[in-house]
Amino acid sequence: MTITKIPIWLDCDPGHDDAVALLLGCFHPAFKIYGISACYGNSSPEHTHYNARSLLTAFGKANDIPVYLGAQKPWVRKPIYAPDIHGDTGLDGTDLLPKPVGEINEKSYIEAVEEAVEDADGEITFISTGALTSIATILRERQHLKSKIKYISIMGGGFSVGNINNNKSAEFNIWVDPHAANFLFSDREIKDKCVLTPLDLTHKAIATNTVMETILGSNPSNLRRMYYELFQFFSNSYKNAQGFEKGPPVHDPITLIPLLELYGLESPSNIKYSYKRYDLDVIYDEKSDDLGKLIISHEYPDCGCTGVMVGFDLNIEYFWEQIYFVLNEAEKSSTIELIDSGKLSTSKIDELKNN
Ligand code: BDR
Ligand code: CA
Repeated sequence: MTITKIPIWLDCDPGHDDAVALLLGCFHPAFKIYGISACYGNSSPEHTHYNARSLLTAFGKANDIPVYLGAQKPWVRKPIYAPDIHGDTGLDGTDLLPKPVGEINEKSYIEAVEEAVEDADGEITFISTGALTSIATILRERQHLKSKIKYISIMGGGFSVGNINNNKSAEFNIWVDPHAANFLFSDREIKDKCVLTPLDLTHKAIATNTVMETILGSNPSNLRRMYYELFQFFSNSYKNAQGFEKGPPVHDPITLIPLLELYGLESPSNIKYSYKRYDLDVIYDEKSDDLGKLIISHEYPDCGCTGVMVGFDLNIEYFWEQIYFVLNEAEKSSTIELIDSGKLSTSKIDELKNN
């Protein structure tokens, strides 16, 4: 079947970089977003759910795209959040996030995802930009859905680099729920559908000053200003917590880019996606200094259809172009009211840039 739009479900924990993944998923014409579930992760599930609803409100999409409560805690471990990177609310750094509009959705995310998967007729991709608890729970409880999901695109893991545990050998999203990750990567039917975007790749997507100034633009709306402030906060966090001097790595939205090539909607010569296929084990022994680390148990040299697809490179310039494009699109439907009829004074812009 030839498709013109990629059906997606986004499970996220917004989160500054999740907020960019949401923007891309909601406004890129190649995607049709069925729904969003907000899991615990960067902050408490109450905060991430609020943040997802607030972002959709800012986009003017609160009545179009349903948001559900995702997984509330890891399968075995105690939940641990990331205030050092995202602040206590998960989206610290701006006052421009609007109060969410619309009713809170009472339906369970498992039921909602099941309906979406059935409706999308074998074509849907589940995107996970937080802990893997939500998707692992869905597939443990509704095993018949395994064959009906096309890909599971995950931000997680790190091979040459890590950002957490005693040995800095794991990545946050895998480390917070290593049992859920292990469930997915060790399941014969599921693992071959996993498209993993690890830190090795996301650390190439640095929001430099040039990127941040392009986000702000010369005549910024409040939506641009909000993203600019979020990027500034994220930048300071990454500098202080992990020593990133040139800007923060914008991990989560990268998960959407390989799909454009995998679904045949964009030419491989534009995406330049490069990956390897592995079988992976996850260290889940709580006492290990390598808790959450991914171990390659087998490499498939032919890069066929077996094993977790692990991305190591893609066209980063192309990626930023997509972000700039969707920001323009989002401005057209954003409901955050504009300051001075959409114009900020030059002195205000200078003040923002100097903060
Ligand atoms: C991942 O952890 C979270 O802090 C980010 O949102 C991203 O999903 C990076 O390790
Ligand atoms: Ca995230």
